[in-house]
This record gives sequence, C-alpha cells and structure tokens, in this order.
Amino acid sequence: MKDNPVIFIKELSEQDRPFMLNHFLGLSASDRRLRFGAVLPDEAITRYVNGIDFSRDTVFGVYESTYNLVGVGHLAFLDPVALPALDGSRSDRIAEFGVSVSAPMRRKNVGTKLFDRATLHCRNNHVDTLYIHCLASNKPMLCIAEKAGMKIHKDHGEVDGYLHLPSLDPDSLRKESAEERVASLDYALNGRMRDIVRWLRKLGLSEKAVPSSNRSSDSV
Ligand SMILES: CC(C)(COP(=O)(O)OP(=O)(O)OC[C@H]1O[C@@H](n2cnc3c(N)ncnc32)[C@H](O)[C@@H]1OP(=O)(O)O)[C@@H](O)C(=O)NCCC(=O)NCCS
Repeated sequence: MKDNPVIFIKELSEQDRPFMLNHFLGLSASDRRLRFGAVLPDEAITRYVNGIDFSRDTVFGVYESTYNLVGVGHLAFLDPVALPALDGSRSDRIAEFGVSVSAPMRRKNVGTKLFDRATLHCRNNHVDTLYIHCLASNKPMLCIAEKAGMKIHKDHGEVDGYLHLPSLDPDSLRKESAEERVASLDYALNGRMRDIVRWLRKLGLSEKAVPSSNRSSDSV
C-alpha cells in the first residue's frame, strides 16, 4: 500500500496568483504540453495565470508550504454548446477541469484528490457535468478519469471525458465546507510556524528549537 501524505485542498484566490505562476513555470516542456495541449512559453503561461477570473472560475491548490503550490486544479465554467456532444444529450451546466501536479509530488494521490474536490464543488454549484480534455497518451489523467467513472471519447489521439454528477445533498455541502476549513487552518498554521521560525532566527536561535511535531512537515 502507498504511504501517501495527508493532502489539504484549498480554494485559491487573487493572493495566490504569484504562487500559481511559480507552479506552472516549474512544469517541464512535456508537462506543459500535457496540461495546455501545447508547449506554452513562459510569457503565455504568465498571460494564462494573470487572465484567470476568480469571480467566474474556481481554482484549487495543494500547498506544500506557505510559498510552494504543488498541485493546481482549474475548474472553468463553460458554455455547453461549445463542446463536442457525447451522446446527443446536452448538459445545462458544464465545467472543464485542468490539473497539474509538480513532478516530485506525483503518484501520491494529489491529482486524484484535486479531481474529487472539483466534482464535489461542481455538485454543490449545480453543475451537472464535469469535462476533461487530454491526450490519449496521458496515462495518469486517464487513470483518474476512469477511476471516477467518466465516459471517455477518444479521437485522433485526444480524449474528451464526461462525468455526469448527482445533485448536491447535505453531505456534499458539509464535506466541501469541512475540507475548506481544515485546509485554511493548515495553511494559516504553516504561515504562523514560518513567522515563529523567522523570529527565532532573529533571536539567534536555530530552527531546531521548534519541535518537529509542530512544523506540520508531513502534510502537503
Ligand atoms: C495528471 C497528473 C495531474 C496526475 O497527478 P498525480 O498526483 O500524479 O496523480 P495520482 O497520484 O492521483 O495518480 C492517479 C492515478 O494515475 C496512476 N498513474 C500516475 N502516474 C502514472 C503513470 N506515469 N503511468 C500510469 N499510471 C500512472 C496512479 O497510479 C493513480 O492510479 P491509482 O490510484 O489506481 O494508483 C500529473 O501527472 C500531471 O501534472 N501531469 C502533467 C499535466 C497533465 O497531464 N495534466 C492533465 C491534463 S489537464
């Protein structure tokens, strides 16, 4: 059995933009192709990050520390007419999910957890279909999609995946709200710990003075 770290997923906002940019600029050329469908240069990535409209879309992140985002999931709410039909039926509300995880953090369930959080958020916001688009060679993304039970449409080396979602219920609302609260608390505690370490350094005391159990280093 894999020994995965505890993962906290936080909804991102304007103040996270610089950390999102660092995350995306850290992706290799092949990862950029898998994530964006093309090897985007740094300037295009910067435009993409600066162009994210937090009032319309929802972005989730997994922080390893206060400064380091190791996973980002972007949920963009779409016009269903813009999408290829799967089975003739049309959805009322559809959202596209794009995700990336920093290479050292892969295969630790971060991508799966971000996907699960996106499905929960869609349900709670009356979105009935989650959509992904990726290359047919993208094994980890297909694995996430298949585990979730997505309907997969392969064409010319590309994949469209659709997941029909149940309506919200009290459990889905409670679960998302609890996840967000725990993640925000973890993030705030990490920041607080960083302030304490900085303060100890100023006093000439080493970081070792802080008990390791208080550094929340085993959570990401
Ligand atoms: C796709 C991506 C987000 C997956 O993130 P991740 O955190 O490594 O995913 P997980 O750890 O949750 O793994 C998901 C599943 O894929 C499997 N998997 C991961 N890497 C794999 C690989 N290289 N080959 C085959 N299966 C793989 C895992 O075993 C897991 O399956 P399991 O739960 O049955 O064990 C990550 O690989 C990535 O950022 N890739 C570049 C960008 C990209 O491709 N984005 C998707 C298109 S939008």
